[in-house]
Amino acid sequence: MTILIVGGSGFLGSELVRQAKAAGHTTVATYATKPCNSIPDAWRRLDLRDAESLDSVVADAQPRVVINASSGRADWAITAEGPVQLALVTAKRGTPLVHVSTDAVFSGAGTARYDESRLPDPVTPYGAAKAAAETGILAVHPKAVVARTSLIIGHGLSVHERLVHALAAGTTDGALY
Ligand SMILES: NC(=O)c1ccc[n+]([C@@H]2O[C@H](COP(=O)([O-])OP(=O)(O)OC[C@H]3O[C@@H](n4cnc5c(N)ncnc54)[C@H](OP(=O)(O)O)[C@@H]3O)[C@@H](O)[C@H]2O)c1
Repeated sequence: MTILIVGGSGFLGSELVRQAKAAGHTTVATYATKPCNSIPDAWRRLDLRDAESLDSVVADAQPRVVINASSGRADWAITAEGPVQLALVTAKRGTPLVHVSTDAVFSGAGTARYDESRLPDPVTPYGAAKAAAETGILAVHPKAVVARTSLIIGHGLSVHERLVHALAAGTTDGALY
């Protein structure tokens, strides 16, 4: 089947491209600024803030499923509004959407464990934007799934991994998030 991976040039997205291809799927991957060195069947440039091009990228790819692995950090238009636009476009077509979210929708205060029924209580602009995206997506797309992940460990060079090392070393206060 054809899988459209939004943010396919990113840290998680490029691994999703690799694994989807290895499983025999056709992959269409998007980038915002530049494709990376993973090799999907096709690259498409996509800015989630551009609702028109969003529609045409999904129409051209005709995916069986869309995975949103994009990240715009604390940028509200990219991280909160863009994914809701994507949900509107995919819902209109009846295309399932998997939206990757984060444990940063939670404050971490009061409990070490969260289940799906727990309401978000973000304490950062990034967490707030991700929580807003989740709420909007689930409101407009009946077939959408939100998958919250924590730190994704990989080759050590991802933005998140470097941030965690910098926070541990005390060389940043994490203000970007
Ligand atoms: N990495 C982690 O440890 C971690 C932890 C928890 C949750 N997550 C979640 O996992 C997902 C992937 O994270 P990641 O670390 O793999 O992100 P990443 O490496 O920063 O990749 C971000 C992707 O989003 C694309 N992008 C940026 N601006 C965009 C825009 N305006 N429109 C469309 N696409 C845009 C980028 O394209 P260009 O490369 O061309 O700019 C890139 O493909 C995110 O939803 C994040 O919240 C990640």
